[in-house]
Amino acid sequence: MPGDRCPTGIGPVDQLLGGGLETDGLTELYGEGGSGKTLICLQAATRLALDDRWVCYIDTEGVSVDRLEAIAQGRIDQVLQRLLLATPKSLEEQTKAVGAACALARDTKRGIGLIVLDSATFYYRLTLSSDSEDDGRLALGRELAELVATAIGSHIPVLFTNQVWRNQRTGDLEPLGGSFVNHAAKTILRIDRLPGARRRAVLLKHRSLGEAAAEFQITSTGLS
Ligand code: GTP
Ligand code: MG
Repeated sequence: MPGDRCPTGIGPVDQLLGGGLETDGLTELYGEGGSGKTLICLQAATRLALDDRWVCYIDTEGVSVDRLEAIAQGRIDQVLQRLLLATPKSLEEQTKAVGAACALARDTKRGIGLIVLDSATFYYRLTLSSDSEDDGRLALGRELAELVATAIGSHIPVLFTNQVWRNQRTGDLEPLGGSFVNHAAKTILRIDRLPGARRRAVLLKHRSLGEAAAEFQITSTGLS
């Protein structure tokens, strides 16, 4: 149903999001390397899988099974049974994987509970300042548009991560992909690194909630 929430299982993040991911829109996580974007994706996917829901997980980074095992805390077999993992090796393969995930999600008999795209901009970034930059932008735009249509049409939450670049003028870290990506995401969370294992999630955009922040810790079994 529109307006429903899908808990990630990470208390501070769910609280920040008013209960969890919106089920009819895209949620973007952006932040520098090591901030915890992948951990949030893995934890959300694990929670859904343990709730017996299917998860389409598109991974461009080479997800570590050891990490997933630590997060699953003894229930890795149950998690793997519900994870539909795609590991594209190019932007073209990523586009195909997004198309396949959206087709599965639109098929109501399948019971897909979440689509994850981590990271949406790994291969896109490789096209920047090259002859294929326009093609890269178009491919990323089309993927996000298909994900938006699927989220709205099938009320399935979509979680995607985005990498950052340093704006030399302002000194700020900004998400890749420009305004199109920011418009495609109905919810945007920036993840900041704090000293040690501490991290901060900042809610920058939401349909019904104002700007807010929450802190959490990286532990051996994920985030707490
Ligand atoms: P990028 O994908 O590089 O942009 O980073 P990310 O934001 O996805 O960060 P990620 O979630 O991969 O890592 C967050 C933190 O988890 C890192 O700073 C590490 O401290 C920790 N970490 C990374 N890999 C492992 C691992 O295999 N085991 C454990 N326990 N911690 C890890
Ligand atoms: Mg990552």
